[in-house]
Amino acid sequence: MQPPDKHPKIIVQDQQPFNAESPLEPLRRSFVTPTELFYVRNHGTIPEVDPASYRLTVSGMVERQLELSLEEIRDEFPKETVTATVQCAGNRRQGLMEAQQIPGETPWGAGALGNARWSGVPLREVLQAAGVGEEARHVAFAGLDEIEEGWSPNYGSSVPLHKGMSPEVLLAYEMNGEPLRSEHGFPLRAVVPGYIGARSVKWLSDITLQYVPSDNYFQAHEYKLFPPYVTEETVDYTEGFALGEISLNAVTCSPSDGEELSAGPVPFRGYAIAGGGRTIERVDLSTDEGQSWIGADLKEGEGHPWAWRFWEATMELDRGKHQIVVRALDSAADTQPADAGGIWNFKGYANNAWHSVEVDAR
Ligand code: MTE
Repeated sequence: MQPPDKHPKIIVQDQQPFNAESPLEPLRRSFVTPTELFYVRNHGTIPEVDPASYRLTVSGMVERQLELSLEEIRDEFPKETVTATVQCAGNRRQGLMEAQQIPGETPWGAGALGNARWSGVPLREVLQAAGVGEEARHVAFAGLDEIEEGWSPNYGSSVPLHKGMSPEVLLAYEMNGEPLRSEHGFPLRAVVPGYIGARSVKWLSDITLQYVPSDNYFQAHEYKLFPPYVTEETVDYTEGFALGEISLNAVTCSPSDGEELSAGPVPFRGYAIAGGGRTIERVDLSTDEGQSWIGADLKEGEGHPWAWRFWEATMELDRGKHQIVVRALDSAADTQPADAGGIWNFKGYANNAWHSVEVDAR
């Protein structure tokens, strides 16, 4: 299969499996990310699925098993659209790698996320059609891609039932008003807004209601958070916790790190994102490593609880080099840690330390 048709400036991290992130300045130009700029995170093949023979099965702790064709999913259930940002748990891993090495993992910058208009059927409509069994606590998803690394035959994950029954969780067949492209999960994927991207299973083939979380490798081993003192040598995968809601984050998209620019008023632009449906309430910038802060203006994103929030601030910069850090505060009054060293973890997930760029004002 050819690598996906993406924007010429997309940053390819791996060809096989295909992994690519968005360059930050173009990413910040539009609130809804054009599909060609939207990052791609794969663990295996990009399957070519025949839409005519495709079936979604719903089984496990249900009153009746379902086997649905794409036509039935489209025609027999309501269609909803949710604007939601999907972000990889490994977004900004590079910052953790600078604190301490993380061998064998993709060195994502801050572009492993994107915001799309997803359309499809709310997952709960399908679960209700199957009849949720009283014992069910988790919704497990399985995909059709083949994983080459021998860990697991396919990709899978799960979400707690209460999240699966929330109205924003979709079985999406459209992205930005078009049928899903193959690299984004054609013909059907889960979209779990507010959760790490790993739970939004692409090329979705099976939904199983069960009492326990999925035992798929990508739920039981990967995408778990371990403390800084646990290493690949000492890890016990039954410990740690399976990541769910994404953590609060803020990133400067322009100017870029290392940019040379003119002294005087300089516009700074970026994104901020909160997990679990919380909202961004404030974004602050500092030129003195957090001794003092100025507030940024919050821009696009108001009224979209599952999307990122754009921000902008004008900083007066004298000639010379400046380090500008950014942090956000959310509706739970949560804010971000200053330093990546303290949140380092050997898999490199959930880096939400203050993001910094260095600029040279001439
Ligand atoms: N679903 C399947 N079947 N296989 C995968 O490798 N990757 C997951 C998730 N769903 C994955 C998957 C991860 S880790 C992320 S971050 C998102 O898909 C990425 O979605 P995107 O490629 O559409 O941006």
